[in-house]
Amino acid sequence: MTKKRLLFTGGSGKAGKHVVPYLLDQGYRVMNVDLKPLDHPGVDNLIADITDSGQMFNAMSSYAGLDELEPGNGVPEFDAVVHFAAVPRILINPDNETFRVNTIGTYNVIEAAVKMGIRKIIIASSETTYGVCFSDGPTDPHSLPLEEDYDVNPMDSYGLSKVVNEKTARAFQRRSGFDIYALRIGNVIEPHEYQELFPYYFKHPEVRRRNAFCYIDARDLGQIVDLCVKKDGLGYQVFNAGNDHNGAIIPSKELAERFFPGVEITRELGEHEALFSNKKIREVLGFKEQHNWRKYVKGE
Ligand SMILES: NC(=O)c1ccc[n+]([C@@H]2O[C@H](COP(=O)([O-])OP(=O)(O)OC[C@H]3O[C@@H](n4cnc5c(N)ncnc54)[C@H](O)[C@@H]3O)[C@@H](O)[C@H]2O)c1
Repeated sequence: MTKKRLLFTGGSGKAGKHVVPYLLDQGYRVMNVDLKPLDHPGVDNLIADITDSGQMFNAMSSYAGLDELEPGNGVPEFDAVVHFAAVPRILINPDNETFRVNTIGTYNVIEAAVKMGIRKIIIASSETTYGVCFSDGPTDPHSLPLEEDYDVNPMDSYGLSKVVNEKTARAFQRRSGFDIYALRIGNVIEPHEYQELFPYYFKHPEVRRRNAFCYIDARDLGQIVDLCVKKDGLGYQVFNAGNDHNGAIIPSKELAERFFPGVEITRELGEHEALFSNKKIREVLGFKEQHNWRKYVKGE
């Protein structure tokens, strides 16, 4: 049986270098489209710039590797596009450049995918759309837990670029009828970072307030992307992509009372249930986390 072909943008980055291997392990063929290659066995790399529309149309109509020349049947089609390439936060580039790369890049990727007839597109949005992460001063969310129907309202160029990208996705979905899912990704944690970062976070929980104490294990993010590829027919969707619990030892209710006093809590919370809720991916996609932080670091 031929493998499903995925075109993955930004696979050489922090999240992609774990998500791409996860997808290869699930039996996909993955072509990574990035400004730099991902050095991992089995991955095909194409160096291309998402801000160049012509390059995106080319990439989506490309052989993934030399072996695909052999059958002589022409270029095979991609089954899905996973779009992670971006400037991943403010204060790496000037604000206008962050906005330009992220919005134009996402427009180009989605437009090329839709016009090439690729019926499943998954894009990386962000927890920062909720407007707490990169706000000026310690702002409060309108309510907790953070769920997908929230009126997102960030004040920074990166969060704004992700809100615009969700609108772009929605417009293309409406026109095409294809499935386009936006993942509001939480703070990505790589396997080695539990030991490196979490003991400090536990001692200084205030440093995690801007992230609403969320995290997503990079490998669990791989599972979420896989579930999105497999789940057809949902049209336009937004999903929070986070782990089940807060990346904190303080129970959720106390965490909310201490760091977000006065903020309305809209429903009963489990003892450690994440304030950045992953209820929707659990219920709609069947996500079951494999990498709770307690497996890797002591909560003390
Ligand atoms: N890391 C997090 O905690 C986090 C949280 C929420 C959302 N996200 C989103 O998830 C995605 C992946 O984040 P990451 O942390 O792996 O970021 P990263 O910066 O480590 O990786 C992004 C990749 O995109 C590539 N890229 C950048 N500009 C490009 C361009 N013009 N053309 C082609 N490739 C380009 C980079 O070379 C890099 O390999 C991004 O969309 C980011 O906004 C990340």
